Amino acid sequence: MCGIIGYVGDEAAAPIVYQGLENLEYRGYDSAGIALVNGARATGDVAADGGLTVAKRSGEVSNLTVPDAPDATCGIGHTRWSTHGPPTDANAHPHVDCAESIAVVHNGIIENHEALKAELGDHEFTSETDTEVVPHLLESELSETAGGDAVDLRTAVERVVDRLEGSYAVCAIHAGENRIVAARDGSPLVVGHGEDAAFLASDVTAFLEHTREVTYLEDGDVVDLSADGDVEVFAPSDDAASDASVPDSSASSDANAFLSRRPVDRSVETVEWEADAAEKAGYEHYMRKEIHEQPTALRQTLSGRVDVDRARVDLDVSFPEALLERIEEVQIVACGTSYYAGRYAARLIESFADVRTTVEIASEYAFGAGRDPDRTLTIAVTQSGETADTLGAIRRADSAGARTLAVTNTLGSSVTRAVDDAVFIRAGPEIGVAATKTFASQVTTLALLAVALGRERGTLSASRARSVLENLRGLPGAVQQALDAEADVVAAAEQYRDEDAFFFLGRDLGVPVALEGALKLKEIAYDHAEGFPAGELKHGPLALVTDRTPVLAVLTEGGSPAETMTNVTEAQTRGADAIGCVSADREFGTLDVAFEVPDVGLLEPLVANVYFQLFAYHVANEKSRAIDKPRNLAKSVTVE
Ligand code: F6R
Repeated sequence: MCGIIGYVGDEAAAPIVYQGLENLEYRGYDSAGIALVNGARATGDVAADGGLTVAKRSGEVSNLTVPDAPDATCGIGHTRWSTHGPPTDANAHPHVDCAESIAVVHNGIIENHEALKAELGDHEFTSETDTEVVPHLLESELSETAGGDAVDLRTAVERVVDRLEGSYAVCAIHAGENRIVAARDGSPLVVGHGEDAAFLASDVTAFLEHTREVTYLEDGDVVDLSADGDVEVFAPSDDAASDASVPDSSASSDANAFLSRRPVDRSVETVEWEADAAEKAGYEHYMRKEIHEQPTALRQTLSGRVDVDRARVDLDVSFPEALLERIEEVQIVACGTSYYAGRYAARLIESFADVRTTVEIASEYAFGAGRDPDRTLTIAVTQSGETADTLGAIRRADSAGARTLAVTNTLGSSVTRAVDDAVFIRAGPEIGVAATKTFASQVTTLALLAVALGRERGTLSASRARSVLENLRGLPGAVQQALDAEADVVAAAEQYRDEDAFFFLGRDLGVPVALEGALKLKEIAYDHAEGFPAGELKHGPLALVTDRTPVLAVLTEGGSPAETMTNVTEAQTRGADAIGCVSADREFGTLDVAFEVPDVGLLEPLVANVYFQLFAYHVANEKSRAIDKPRNLAKSVTVE
């Protein structure tokens, strides 16, 4: 949901910023833009002619012409997922002030932009965005003085962001200064530490080829990046005062005595993802690459966490003494694919740990924190860790007193700071907008949690736990077998690509997989697809079934295959073709297409899901859809 990149150092900024935009394009592809501080390579802190170069364009990053500015060594860029104002050239970021000496990129929503704009009566606005108030407000601030001195860019940014309501990550550059000042509140921003250079981005994948040394900024932080790679972070005073690592600040005695922020030391962390993990590695699309990465991702998810002999799981979470025994309710909050992963896991948690488990679409979460917050564990499942709806829900649970846990793929993400504990799914970067490998890793991580809960509470016997853990260990191999059968899925996709609609059916653990299968097909093939609990078909949706609506069914262990097949037959009787994912030890002779699922017990529907992912991918590919960048969507939805 909008990607931001910034670079300041001693190399030409334009190609680095452009590459960063390409890396971030999964966050939005309505428009793209770059702003550079014009300058001479050797001038260090002060740019030569003091102007800015701005290039921006609606459409994908490839539409943008990279400015030919080899001497400009400081720049910012933006790739947009539209919220305020349609995807036009004018609405593309960066936005500038009247004098075109300040450029700003922004991710988030400025809710009070109308009121702020009203105060800027003499400023001329050229876009319909909420963002454009920021460069104009900065322009006003920079024309002020403080204690006789001109207000500098950092001070101006601090003053302006303190007036913004909503959520933002904003980065600003100013003509004549090789420097980037940025701030975050509610939208992600991470600093990359290079050699004599500094980077800034919405996500580390933007600059992984340059550095893996990063600092995750906190809400309220303002950061100042200078040409020699120096990075200074300033936090609101309360935060600074409570931070033992705060250097003795002199900020309060200088000309900026009004500042409510003080310098803080934020830790530098090393990202373990390899730079090429975020590249296509010869695949035509990230999505297909990520589907094929699932065996590796699952091995990473499981690595070091499973002790089959002792029937134990180690998820590196230290819950308070007796919490797991005490809890009476588990709530899962999530959106989209993560919500379906939550639905799968809820069944496992109830079954293994005998605890009431509810799953809420995060934007609908209203319960507060269960019937007794003191006995409730609320789990946010979120690949990105930045989904605004999920963050809102987990924060509500937290303030109502529930114990909170994040299950996420993203180190340093906002959710990790909003919860008591975090568990990482370790799937590696996922760039394709449609989630694939992270679904499997989310369910696997939650299955491990379900086993841990069951063992801790004494509701899961050692022998049953061992059998589940054996199945989890067998899952990467089973997924690989499904991937090896891709040619059969391609044939099915070719055969059925032009049908009117697709119905996905499942029971029990097959239901979330049916829902997820339909979501994938909708998202990337733009086909009408619905997922149903198979038994519900006859209560209404059967009216939609014709000989142009194939059904795709989960006919595996964990999904009541015989009962599901009865419902599949009801559809076949009305003329529909049936495609089934079937456990290896079963046979349903009347299926039109059958995909074999190796024996992994209750995890078999997860393997069926891999067939559904491949089916969606190949139908979309047959139709030449923009698979990694489906229309109207973006990964990481940071607005509610
Ligand atoms: C679908 C998809 C979305 C996300 C949803 C939640 O393919 O990717 O439905 O699952 O936006 O995102 P996270 O997991 O980042 O919270």
